[in-house]
Amino acid sequence: MAKLTTQFICQSCGSVSPKWNGKCNDCGEWNTLIEEVVETGKKKVDAVHQNRISSNPPVKATTLAEIPRKEGERMQTAFGEFNRVMGGGIMKGSLILIGGDPGIGKSTLMMQVAGYLDSNKETILYVSAEESVHQVRGRAERLGLEKAPILLLAETNLNEILLQARNLKPALLIIDSIQTVYLPDLSSAPGSVSQVRECTSAVMTLAKTEHITTFITGHVTKDGSIAGPRVLEHLVDTVLQFEGDRNHHFRILRSLKNRFGSTNEIGVFDMNSRGLREITNPSELFLSEFSQGITGSVIAVTMEGTRPILVELQALVSNCNYGFPQRNTNGFDQRRMTMLLAVLEKRLGTPMGTQDVFLNVASGLKIDDPAADLGVCIAILSSFREWSIARDVVFIGEIGLGGEIRSVSSIEQRLMECAKLGFKRLIVPKASLKEAELPKNVEVIGVNHIQDVYNRMDEWLADLQL
Ligand code: TYD
Ligand code: MG
Repeated sequence: MAKLTTQFICQSCGSVSPKWNGKCNDCGEWNTLIEEVVETGKKKVDAVHQNRISSNPPVKATTLAEIPRKEGERMQTAFGEFNRVMGGGIMKGSLILIGGDPGIGKSTLMMQVAGYLDSNKETILYVSAEESVHQVRGRAERLGLEKAPILLLAETNLNEILLQARNLKPALLIIDSIQTVYLPDLSSAPGSVSQVRECTSAVMTLAKTEHITTFITGHVTKDGSIAGPRVLEHLVDTVLQFEGDRNHHFRILRSLKNRFGSTNEIGVFDMNSRGLREITNPSELFLSEFSQGITGSVIAVTMEGTRPILVELQALVSNCNYGFPQRNTNGFDQRRMTMLLAVLEKRLGTPMGTQDVFLNVASGLKIDDPAADLGVCIAILSSFREWSIARDVVFIGEIGLGGEIRSVSSIEQRLMECAKLGFKRLIVPKASLKEAELPKNVEVIGVNHIQDVYNRMDEWLADLQL
């Protein structure tokens, strides 16, 4: 007999507790437990697991050599950027979660991926649980995909969706979004942690037993997680995050987890009136508005997955006239900037305590690569000292608390990208240069300490001084 009980689920780690606590006993996060009414008993377990039980193949262990190699395991789309983020195409039979803010373009991306799939003979099923089929058709029309062979279904009951998918056996199934579908056997509301988790688990079973490549989209919560971090992450094969700034027209697709490719890989897209367009040379785009002569502006290189991207860092340092000095960052960790300010103060004697400091990664990219540290420090010094840095100089290096410049990963790729884009003088950590193969026609300058850079700064300033 099924009966209703109240339980508390941690939004952070998904653990279940019979009573409310301020702090989760499992992961130690505060204020993450939320109340949910759930149906316990045999019925629920059956509903979710019946597919698994009925289609269980006989269990047999095999040696690695016995398992045949599969060719053509990945599906390609006409979006090269998308293929790259997925690790070289979409792995067949995998379950992929695409998270992002509402309105960022998840449905648009899914529709274009479906329309741009290389094989046009196979069935594609697009399930919209948020919009009517007319709305989806309207979008497809704007994208020029109204003739694409895509089957549409507007449905929110997951059992119906699973039934349709079993009958149609599509090569690609898209469920948009996981927060709006529901399993009627569970009593909690669509979008609640237990619904989202059980629905994802049921979709996973479908993907694996029927070998159907499945995408699910999910809205992120206010703190940036999809129905609580880690709740869904371990259930799916790949987690992609679609992000962007509402004020900028470009979007970034980032892989946070990928069982079939490297993580932190990013793909850059431009959203215009006819949908998303891929941008294959993001550094050029991010530097397009960079102009010589502005103090506080410096070029740094960040590794995003396997690809180096050049970005412009902008700092503004001004006298603090009202009480407590401000520290504000856009696209860079504020605490890390505070640490770098302390290093500048302690190791170079630059008085930062009386200054407001603002740091901006131009173009809206968010970077967390420590190799940008040196660029950040130079941007701050440049604004403070009224230096304008020469157009052809790039700063690369992680900074330690002693002011030492530490080596960074993938130095050769970073240098190659700088050389490709016409930068001539590359300031890099000496320790990274030991075995690195250096690009030709550029001057690579190894430095050990922030003091070295400070002392030689004259060499790298623009002739034109404001
Ligand atoms: P959508 O894919 O519906 O977002 P999500 O599924 O993540 O909620 O995209 C919504 C936004 O994208 C909307 O503000 C309009 C814009 N958009 C364009 O700018 N161009 C287009 O061709 C399309 C289809 C959407
Ligand atoms: Mg949508």
